[in-house]
Amino acid sequence: MENQTGYHVAVVGATGAVGEQMLKMLEQRQFPLKSLKVLASARSAGQKVAFRGEDITVEETTPEAFEGVQIALFSAGGSVSKKFVPEAIKRGAVCIDNTSAYRMDPEVPLVVPEVNPDAMKQHNGVIANPNCSTIQMVAALKPLHDKFGMERIIVSTYQAVSGAGAKAIAELENQSRAALNGEEVKKEVLPVSSLPKHHQIAFNAIPQIDVFLDNGFTNEEMKMIRETKKIFGNEDVAVSATCVRIPVVKGHSEAVYVEFEKDFELADVRSLLENAPGVVLVDNPEEQEYPMALDAADKIEVFVGRLRRDLDHPRGLHMWVVSDNLLKGAAWNAVQIAEELVKSGLIEEK
Ligand code: A2P
Repeated sequence: MENQTGYHVAVVGATGAVGEQMLKMLEQRQFPLKSLKVLASARSAGQKVAFRGEDITVEETTPEAFEGVQIALFSAGGSVSKKFVPEAIKRGAVCIDNTSAYRMDPEVPLVVPEVNPDAMKQHNGVIANPNCSTIQMVAALKPLHDKFGMERIIVSTYQAVSGAGAKAIAELENQSRAALNGEEVKKEVLPVSSLPKHHQIAFNAIPQIDVFLDNGFTNEEMKMIRETKKIFGNEDVAVSATCVRIPVVKGHSEAVYVEFEKDFELADVRSLLENAPGVVLVDNPEEQEYPMALDAADKIEVFVGRLRRDLDHPRGLHMWVVSDNLLKGAAWNAVQIAEELVKSGLIEEK
């Protein structure tokens, strides 16, 4: 597609679970597009995807495909980003990378627009999108941190299968059907790790997301820990995480416990969250109202509820944070970064 004004944009991994949502976000937000390229592997080249009422042909991701591209949104896995981000930069594109390939590179800004929008000004051609579980947590913590200063975070996650891609969604559906029909349950995808061993996700909870590291934490848990410190620019905040995969398709839920430096009133926490950009407070226990994955699915906001003071620590707060992992956790955060780039004049219209 070609328009008179706007930006030349490419989506890499456009046929995947996140890529599909990136296209949906560009469409819904009416992102100013002069042209759009949808890229994936050679397997999908020639397929069509619908966009703004047009069929766009999927192209193979090659270095030349980035010729003329100004903004490239990547969500095709770390190895694809490692290979093609440098090629896209060479051709003048700013890359917004949803994989973990560049997140911890000290030269690469790791950005959640509600939290550290200024970091993107220092980009050298690539801006990293944090891990889905990190994004929703830091968006909820930001207004509280600004006011009360965080000392320690302990988070337990309840993560949807879509975070592991389209294959994991299909596995949950197939396993659920097989289990209910009394048929053999095939285990082929989860947990995604370096071992050929898999577990049933249907009617189960798997306390492993990504591979285990020498310190006993999983890579997903360490991503939450390292990325949170980097985004807040504070290595001193103590962070600890337990990440669990549950049989939900869309929407990660998190039980977040945070200890602050300063005393807080729950009423102030409530009003800070009510006024925080991108955050919606749903906290009405009398009416059994709190955030849930099914309600958060297909929405771009981060939902927070179950606010309560810890019973023993005078400055400890518990909360429940839910968001669509494919949207704020991935595609929306990436498109939001693109919107900020455009708004701040960091990229010129061609
Ligand atoms: P394809 O559909 O052609 O395999 P998910 O996270 O849902 O599994 O999606 C992964 C995305 O990354 C898909 O769009 C997939 O395209 C794309 N992808 C996988 N391998 C490559 C590759 N080598 N080059 C470009 N895109 C790739």
